[in-house]
Amino acid sequence: MSSASLADWSPSSWRSKPIKQVPSYPDAAALAGVEERLASYPPLVFAGEARSLRDHLARVAKGEAFLLQGGDCAESFAEHGPDNIRDFFRVFLQMAVVLTYGSARPVVKVGRLAGQFAKPRSSDIEARDGQELPSYRGDIINGIDFTSDARIPNPQRQDMAYRQSAATLNLVRAFANGGYANLENVQQWMLGFVADSPQGERYREVADRISETIEFMRAIGLTPEQYARLRETEFYTSHEALLLGYEEALTRKDSTSVDPDAWYTTSGHMIWIGDRTRQLDHAHVEFARGVRNPIGMKCGPSLEPDDMLRLIDRLNPLNDPGRLTLIARFGHDKVEEHLPKLIRAVEREGKSVVWSCDPMHGNTITLNSYKTRPFDRILSEVEAFFSVHEAEGTYPGGIHVEMTGKNVTECTGGARAVRPEDLHDRYHTHCDPRLNADQALELAFLVSERLKKGRSEQPMELSQAV
Ligand code: PEP
Ligand code: CO
Repeated sequence: MSSASLADWSPSSWRSKPIKQVPSYPDAAALAGVEERLASYPPLVFAGEARSLRDHLARVAKGEAFLLQGGDCAESFAEHGPDNIRDFFRVFLQMAVVLTYGSARPVVKVGRLAGQFAKPRSSDIEARDGQELPSYRGDIINGIDFTSDARIPNPQRQDMAYRQSAATLNLVRAFANGGYANLENVQQWMLGFVADSPQGERYREVADRISETIEFMRAIGLTPEQYARLRETEFYTSHEALLLGYEEALTRKDSTSVDPDAWYTTSGHMIWIGDRTRQLDHAHVEFARGVRNPIGMKCGPSLEPDDMLRLIDRLNPLNDPGRLTLIARFGHDKVEEHLPKLIRAVEREGKSVVWSCDPMHGNTITLNSYKTRPFDRILSEVEAFFSVHEAEGTYPGGIHVEMTGKNVTECTGGARAVRPEDLHDRYHTHCDPRLNADQALELAFLVSERLKKGRSEQPMELSQAV
């Protein structure tokens, strides 16, 4: 990015732009105090890590790797336990193994966690039994209880979210690098309640073949002790950069760079702009254009190709591969109508993007007064995403899902069918319905098969294989 294009940008330049989805804090001085304190705290991630992720995503943009992004819709203070983090990490590793095995490509692992707290809402007000209160906007802003006290935005929550993010990140870094993610443990990542499901069986077959390969490699002297790639994994964090005061406070200049514009938000490795806050001249796009982290942008049915191209130019003026991920979230029956025209515009203008599919946010319905997502529609959106890319000759680079390692009943369907009448059983989400571990693994197998098919149709170049 040239310095000229950022002459009028600063970490706070978003403040003079129109903004959507902004909470109204009753005490401006208290908010400013918290933001000042956050600005003095250590960064959660390093600029160098965000750059590595960008390099990996550049390989995805070129069709040489696949992006797996997933986690909670909204992290919560109440569910911040080690078991939740470990169970998520386990099923995420399982998905990554299935995808790597099927696609014979590296999988770039990005969690929606360690910072995924703030939520955009379709209405500012929630009504229940005749009473109206401000909507819940995520634990970093207000409380989920339906009381007027809980719903008042409280800036101290930003401090708690920062601390929770640090603790979560600490544990996932330990899992990723401290031995848990060693491929020799591939059999042990199975969660108890998945073990006897159809997905558990399929996973065991893949895991057996990997274990055999590792034994063979050990026999010829290639061991996890020697090769960090076998005993560690690279795991990155991401969240929607919605609460811009928090992001600004954690935005720092890369101290290792002489470039005066090397700003990074250190709240996470990757941030994305939501479907409701991607207006070209508004605050969220303004903030994101100036930080060097990899950026995602949600693309819903209201996005027209010309607006998308203007947003691409604003967010990635130098067309750097890996900088921008477009996350398509249309709804299972709208992919064919919307995705081809966006892909064609990107191809026509020679833009480098990662195309990822969020099959969750366009497929939300209400059943028995629960917000849910039918699993067959989720699968069908992913299928449509792959088919459109196949028809256009472009690369379906990733998936973006809301999921948990727990055995929840939030999305209906799946091989071990969750029925509408089961939803109340274990409906724990603080916001949108997530895939449970079984459903997440089933989705990974479907994607893996599509990738395998794509691979056999497009032989990998020798330079990619080595
Ligand atoms: C989300 O990812 O939780 C979300 C709100 O998505 P979108 O902006 O696509 O609606
Ligand atoms: Co969501």
